[in-house]
Amino acid sequence: MPIAVTGVKGQLGGELCRQLGDRAVGLDLPEFDLLDYDRVRKTIRELRPELLIHAAAYTAVDKAEDEPEKCFAINATATGVLVDLARELDCPFLYVSTDYVFGGEPERSEPFREEDVPSPQGVYARSKYEGELKTLVWEKHYIVRTCGLYGQLGPHSAGNFVETMIRLANEGRPLRVVDDQFCTPSYVVHVARAIIFLIQTDMYGTFHIVNDGATTWYRFAREIFRQLKMDVDITPISTEEYGAKAPRPRFSVLDTSKYNRFFGAPPLPHWKEALAEFLARRAEFLGH
Ligand SMILES: NC(=O)c1ccc[n+]([C@@H]2O[C@H](COP(=O)([O-])OP(=O)(O)OC[C@H]3O[C@@H](n4cnc5c(N)ncnc54)[C@H](OP(=O)(O)O)[C@@H]3O)[C@@H](O)[C@H]2O)c1
Repeated sequence: MPIAVTGVKGQLGGELCRQLGDRAVGLDLPEFDLLDYDRVRKTIRELRPELLIHAAAYTAVDKAEDEPEKCFAINATATGVLVDLARELDCPFLYVSTDYVFGGEPERSEPFREEDVPSPQGVYARSKYEGELKTLVWEKHYIVRTCGLYGQLGPHSAGNFVETMIRLANEGRPLRVVDDQFCTPSYVVHVARAIIFLIQTDMYGTFHIVNDGATTWYRFAREIFRQLKMDVDITPISTEEYGAKAPRPRFSVLDTSKYNRFFGAPPLPHWKEALAEFLARRAEFLGH
């Protein structure tokens, strides 16, 4: 029986399928539309997966403010449909969630642990938290909260922060990047590896999986250019100056000690080391 992975064309779903190889069946639009609940039921019942990893999501955080119904239908209601199927098939279910569930404690400076009380702000964050609540009803569940994913290579890579910074810098534009949101940008290869370790433990529950350390988007951007030896004009700005439509957590650093306590768990390197690993792989991929 295969491991079914939703969101195979996305960053994390794609990387999970790459690492799982023949064991995985990847699902995504247009054939697998989370809004077509009947078709979703039919597909999953036919597949009878041994495990269902739900990495697909409505991830357009700012756009979600304008289409909350669609965002909730995908991130919350469809997650509930998948959880019901997992129960029916007695199949463990892994839901990928987000640091955005901790958006309401701007003064905080201590990393969030799994048992801390979420305070999601904005449509996307609330829809993802609602997906968590739907997941909790099935005892064989994992909830993996991660943050700031980057590292996909190929046709779908353009949207992530690292690629955006490199593209804007290559266009010669002065960059203004937010310097008052603390979190941990995470390399999708490391996150996928940790998830694959986790699903072999059958230690169900909620886990925080991000690279080690913490930074701001401005400092992360500076580190990208430092490692690439690019001289870029970059200015730190505040969240208010940036003026995004949806609220972003000021502090959403996740404590990974629960995952790290597992004997034999592949380590989650420091975010600077993870970035270096990605940039080396990217250079090789681009033939530099
Ligand atoms: N990206 C981050 O920084 C981040 C941080 C924390 C948590 N997460 C969570 O991690 C998971 C993976 O994120 P990611 O960055 O890999 O996301 P992603 O690259 O945006 O991929 C999500 C995938 O889901 C698909 N999808 C969207 N609507 C769908 C629908 N109605 N039916 C079927 N598939 C649909 C998308 O297709 P289209 O592209 O065609 O819409 C895309 O292929 C998500 O659950 C996300 O909430 C992400």
